[in-house]
Amino acid sequence: MKTFMTFAILTLLVYETTSDQASSYIIDNSVGYGRTFNGIGAISGGGATSKLLVNYPEQQRSEILDYLFKPNFGASLHIFKVEIGGDIQSTDGTEASHMHYGWDEDYTRGYEWWMLQEAKKRNPNIKLYGLPWGFPGWLRDAEDTPWKNIPTTADYIVKWINGAKVHYNLTIDYIGIWNESPYNVTYIKTLRKALDMGGFSNTLIIAPDQNGWPIVEDITKDKELFDAVYAIGSHYPEMNSPPSAVQTGKPLWASEDRTSHDDVTGGGCLSRTLNQNYVTGLMTSTILWTAVASYYYGLPWINAGLMRAAEPWSGYYEVSPPIWMTAHTTQFTEIGWKYFKHGYGVGNFTNGGSYVVLTSPDEQQLTIIIETLSQDPSECTRPARFQYLKNLKEQIVNFQLKGKFAGSIESLNAWYSRPGYSKVPPVYFKKMDPVMVQNGSISLTIKQNEVWTLTTVTTGNKGSYPNIPDSGPFPIPYAEDFEGYSVGEEPYYFAQQIGSFEVGESDGNKFMKQMVIDEPVHWYWCHVDNGNTSLNVFGDYQWQDVSAAVAVQLQGQNTSDAVFLAVRATSGGCVALNETGLFMFFYPKEQRFVLTVDLLQHNVLMSGKVNKVTNNWDVLTLQVKGSRLTGAVNTEELFDIKTPVEISNGWVAVGTYPYGIAWFDDFQVSQL
Ligand SMILES: *[C@@H]1O[C@H](CO)[C@@H](O)[C@H](O)[C@H]1NC(C)=O
Ligand SMILES: *[C@@H]1O[C@H](CO)[C@@H](O)[C@H](O)[C@H]1NC(C)=O
Ligand SMILES: *[C@@H]1O[C@H](CO)[C@@H](O)[C@H](O)[C@H]1NC(C)=O
Ligand SMILES: *[C@@H]1O[C@H](CO)[C@@H](O)[C@H](O)[C@H]1NC(C)=O
Ligand SMILES: *[C@@H]1O[C@H](CO)[C@@H](O)[C@H](O)[C@H]1NC(C)=O
Ligand SMILES: *[C@@H]1O[C@H](CO)[C@@H](O)[C@H](O)[C@H]1NC(C)=O
Ligand SMILES: *[C@@H]1O[C@H](CO)[C@@H](O)[C@H](O)[C@H]1NC(C)=O
Repeated sequence: MKTFMTFAILTLLVYETTSDQASSYIIDNSVGYGRTFNGIGAISGGGATSKLLVNYPEQQRSEILDYLFKPNFGASLHIFKVEIGGDIQSTDGTEASHMHYGWDEDYTRGYEWWMLQEAKKRNPNIKLYGLPWGFPGWLRDAEDTPWKNIPTTADYIVKWINGAKVHYNLTIDYIGIWNESPYNVTYIKTLRKALDMGGFSNTLIIAPDQNGWPIVEDITKDKELFDAVYAIGSHYPEMNSPPSAVQTGKPLWASEDRTSHDDVTGGGCLSRTLNQNYVTGLMTSTILWTAVASYYYGLPWINAGLMRAAEPWSGYYEVSPPIWMTAHTTQFTEIGWKYFKHGYGVGNFTNGGSYVVLTSPDEQQLTIIIETLSQDPSECTRPARFQYLKNLKEQIVNFQLKGKFAGSIESLNAWYSRPGYSKVPPVYFKKMDPVMVQNGSISLTIKQNEVWTLTTVTTGNKGSYPNIPDSGPFPIPYAEDFEGYSVGEEPYYFAQQIGSFEVGESDGNKFMKQMVIDEPVHWYWCHVDNGNTSLNVFGDYQWQDVSAAVAVQLQGQNTSDAVFLAVRATSGGCVALNETGLFMFFYPKEQRFVLTVDLLQHNVLMSGKVNKVTNNWDVLTLQVKGSRLTGAVNTEELFDIKTPVEISNGWVAVGTYPYGIAWFDDFQVSQL
């Protein structure tokens, strides 16, 4: 009885609304327009965030890409931004460079080329944007920057843009500097010249892709820099920009902003961000990290992204709230539309929330986007937000249409969302009855925690595919001989965390090859590429009792000294050097093994001699069951011990120490 009472009271509180408050707003273009809209986008990369997408079954893969890119289907993105791989760890893995070395050039590596093409195939008008997070070692100077030889670094970027054109007929519309790392003014100017010389005068520079607005002062006092930069890109600007940035007159972009999988920060706060970035920050483009979370569970930020697709083996994926919150803007606007002026179609409601109005360049279409998530901005960062929502304020909003749209519109199509909270289920992107315009006036009753799009655009559509396969575990046993790949491809399921691994070939045999030979220019905020070790994780983070085997060979020039096989490997991303696990390092030249519980070999369990080294393919095997650990090289058993440390689960991993070429073949994992 007591329990029932409590529930009843809570329910009452949840549905309680406070008194209606009416307020009026003018929508008027006779006073001119505000800034020009530059589009909503999302990012693949920073880093390796689409790693698992490429090996989804074709049907589900195509569905996922439709949710992201197909116009009038899902997120219907206007901009697609990708990482220019730099052989460095850039959050959830490493993306391969198109030039591992100064003497190397390859435009087939990784999956960004493929994804760029898939985006363009679905939406020929989508704008493409490239940005490096780091750079390969040959571009590195003593300060760990890529400014050693500025023309060479500019040439490296222009080569990537040219590669897109020559190999894939893709035009790169925007190019960035160095993600969230210090920019160099000379480099920006040099890049502009190199782009113009290379025939890419239409590729515009977005700078600096850093948090805050550090470039504003430089731009203001340097005409050449001013001319070189098309738009100022700020990361995570928190819906605001300083007056000094606005005064430059440059377009201001939230060139990386947050979204996440769940109802609260993903569904709710995203619509607030998309409106407020213009209402309060005068930013005309918002680009979300990340397009799709397609990397192993156990890696950082698995809840980021417009949607999640982390199980290529089962085909399971999740269409998350941000897809629909993005659709509220993207399906009813296009790049080049104009925002109305503040006070004439853009602003905060007096009773909480915000609205933006945009029109097409021919002034034929009108779109109003309303959100009431911003009544208490601090709540978006608080995960428990909706549990505390008790009094859902209601307000009546009257819009008066003036200027060119007065009298010309009879009704507006209406789309509605409400993130879920407490026991109230969510509603995402639902088509409602049209909202009537009476005597040039629109009246709408809006509750707190809602998103509305009112629009003349008729093409809105909530796309869907039935029958998403069930979630399932990684298929084990698993064996990989790499024969099914083309040379240069990045093997599926091997999620490189440090170093860069691709398929190589020798005497008709294919294998996986670690390519990085010297320390790269790491991404400023990620310090794992200076540990002189490479790391590639595989499988399921939850694996406990497994048997793993791999054939290894150190052949030719620039090889590493040691290769390792590990089980119960625990960390990736920017803390990958903290990787604990059970590591068997093999030093073939020294005929020696070292067994450690960490990647950096600081905690050695034992070491010893290996007698049977073939100087050809040597097979490493490692088995763990409970606390019993056994290891062998070829047929020679090296140890059979009880592990003294508690590491309960983790991936299987391979890698090298130090950086250097190493070959891996006939990889196998099975459950014990
Ligand atoms: C830009 O790079 C040049 C060449 O390496 C260097 O001399 C200069 O100090 C750098 N400027 C900044 C601000 O890093
Ligand atoms: C290259 O792309 C453009 C559109 O961007 C298209 O018009 C042209 O036909 C394409 N060329 C080839 C060879 O596919
Ligand atoms: C709009 O309201 C938010 C609070 O919800 C506030 O932070 C912001 O400064 C306001 N913007 C304008 C332009 O008034
Ligand atoms: C229409 O609006 C105008 C001014 O906003 C007002 O004077 C007029 O009475 C209204 N007509 C009706 C039928 O409501
Ligand atoms: C090894 O590295 C050197 C430069 O350090 C380079 O000249 C040589 O071509 C490399 N060899 C191979 C096989 O990559
Ligand atoms: C390892 O973890 C510790 C504690 O969390 C942290 O202080 C340290 O910076 C990490 N080291 C690396 C290399 O990530
Ligand atoms: C990395 O290892 C190589 C080979 O052992 C060594 O020459 C180099 O100094 C090491 N670099 C760092 C940064 O530890």
